[in-house]
Amino acid sequence: MQTKKINIFDTTLRDGEQVPGCKLNTKEKIQLALALEELGVDIIEAGFPISSPGDFTSVEEIAKVIKHSTVCGLSRAVEKDIQAAGEALKFAKRPRIHTGIGTSDTHIKAKFKASREEILGRAIQAVKWAKAYVDDVEFYAEDAGRTDNEYLARVIEAVIKAGATVVNIPDTTGYCLPHQYGEKIAYLVNNVPNIDKATISCHCHNDLGLATANSITGVIAGAGQIECTINGLGERAGNTSLEEVVMVMKQHAYLGFYTNIKTQKLNPISRLVSETMRMPVQPNKAIVGSNAFAHSSGIHQDGFLKDNSTYEIIKPEDVGADGSKIVLTARSGRSALAHRFQKIGFSFTRNDIDILYQQFLIVADRKKEVKDEDLQEMANEHLAANRKEEKAHIL
Ligand code: KIV
Ligand code: ZN
Repeated sequence: MQTKKINIFDTTLRDGEQVPGCKLNTKEKIQLALALEELGVDIIEAGFPISSPGDFTSVEEIAKVIKHSTVCGLSRAVEKDIQAAGEALKFAKRPRIHTGIGTSDTHIKAKFKASREEILGRAIQAVKWAKAYVDDVEFYAEDAGRTDNEYLARVIEAVIKAGATVVNIPDTTGYCLPHQYGEKIAYLVNNVPNIDKATISCHCHNDLGLATANSITGVIAGAGQIECTINGLGERAGNTSLEEVVMVMKQHAYLGFYTNIKTQKLNPISRLVSETMRMPVQPNKAIVGSNAFAHSSGIHQDGFLKDNSTYEIIKPEDVGADGSKIVLTARSGRSALAHRFQKIGFSFTRNDIDILYQQFLIVADRKKEVKDEDLQEMANEHLAANRKEEKAHIL
């Protein structure tokens, strides 16, 4: 079995922070950067220094406090952007400039009104400018997902020759199907002669809900880095979710990939990001949603109570979640009801549970979820009725 380290490049503070309403101040960005370093991310994309004086300061301050992770700043293929990124990163122990340009015909024609040759020249020039500030230069071929593979391979070969250490192949619009994205990465592995001199990076957006699948297909095809965000935050439908790709690689260890992420910190950092960015996490979100370990149907609950592994592939404690939950709804069964009564201190016979279950269903049809207070009331009434019956029997 191959074992290959996959670098985790977190862009919560850049692509994630672009989301309307998620704007962070410097203090908040530093707090999150420190948490990301604690989590074990290899590269923190701290911001886009030319975009505003505030973001320049945030990148500069993050560069001062981060000790182990690489700190990265984004730029366009524009000299003043690259200069700002270089200056903002001057205190970083491991600085990286992330520069690039759109390479799809749509971007070349509609956005730049240029030719493929002109774009190739600008890409090479951008990497050369960045190399004057840092050794570690990542080049992004924006909209690579819709870029012709032959042209993309030419651009990638040229930027590696100019000194790029990482080549980012973004599916900027979330367009690719997993097999198409995998084939794109494989094409570069097989057709770029100097590809062994750089790491290929996946940066997949989630417009069709395929970001995680595409990133995983990318590493299977030969990429060595995944760009992702906590809770999948990012432009439009978001980026690849960090917690998802990390857990896919952990759960499917036979693929031979590993990361440095301390998975027990995934739920705590998800909550921290959600609170700091004022962006709630959907309850059914994989790994970090409040329902990720909740069981509510009778069939599932019965199996789960016999053996957790019937309905859970991840242990909640492995991802720092609070624990599995049995939620009582009108779809729950007798085993779950008996289990919950036991948890709140009532040990009923099978006969009692049969009677209580009918009352439970009436309450459950009225309410979304039956809570412990409701059960307590049901149990008290049931016991009182039993006592009355016993008394009548004795008399
Ligand atoms: O989605 C994208 O193409 C990007 C680049 C700037 C890397 O975010
Ligand atoms: Zn992006």
